Amino acid sequence: MNIKDRMIIALDYSDPKDAKEIVERLGDAASFYKVGLELFLNSKGEMVEYLTEKGKKVFLDLKFHDIPNTTTMASIFAAKKNVFMFNVHSGGGKKMMKSVAEKAKEINPETLAIGVTVLTSFSEEDIRETYMSELSLKDLALNLAKITKEAGMDGVVCSPWEAKYVKEVCGEEFKTVCPGVRPRWSVANDQERIMTPKDAIMNGCDYLVVGRPITKHENPQVAAEMVLAEIEEGLKGKC
Ligand code: C5P
Repeated sequence: MNIKDRMIIALDYSDPKDAKEIVERLGDAASFYKVGLELFLNSKGEMVEYLTEKGKKVFLDLKFHDIPNTTTMASIFAAKKNVFMFNVHSGGGKKMMKSVAEKAKEINPETLAIGVTVLTSFSEEDIRETYMSELSLKDLALNLAKITKEAGMDGVVCSPWEAKYVKEVCGEEFKTVCPGVRPRWSVANDQERIMTPKDAIMNGCDYLVVGRPITKHENPQVAAEMVLAEIEEGLKGKC
């Protein structure tokens, strides 16, 4: 895999104009962008076409969660838009994810269907309250990763701290997409369990989602290049 394709820039903007400006500023320094609900809705979906027309890869981070038929139809939309990656909530269950994986791949065999296990905003206490379960966060997340894999999906979004365990349970080929990445030279912002790009790669992350350290940097191109250099170091360290 091309090193640049491992770095997903989070376009967390409401105004598509601001998002386009950063894509222009980054130019060839970045090849892969994440479009979430905020930007997707504010751009009325148009941001996806803007990026694909520019030859950029898109992670459509809309976290579909509904009955199998509805989620599958949404996934077919994503596959038809030629996004490189989209996601659903793994909590929607194996039946739902099996249908999503099958149908999305019929439309576009290249599209990666990714599951979201447990939202990182969830605490152990939230799990007890919501699911009446004594399971630890880690066990719940790993079980959801396991059923995501069994459903035929391609990988999960997880913390860089969990990536190693996900690979142990689901195998090396199962993709890990990790936010919560912070180079040493940047500030943590509101991220808590952070890891540097190099350590994240060495801990089993395939794709790193990085937003503010690059998008808010005074020179986003330089910041992107520094992150790429750290990814490269991590890959060398892994061999
Ligand atoms: O700016 P920053 O690098 O913190 O952006 C990270 C991106 O990853 C944001 O779009 C954020 O919503 C997303 N994300 C996260 N933590 C998760 C899941 C998603 O930071 N657990």
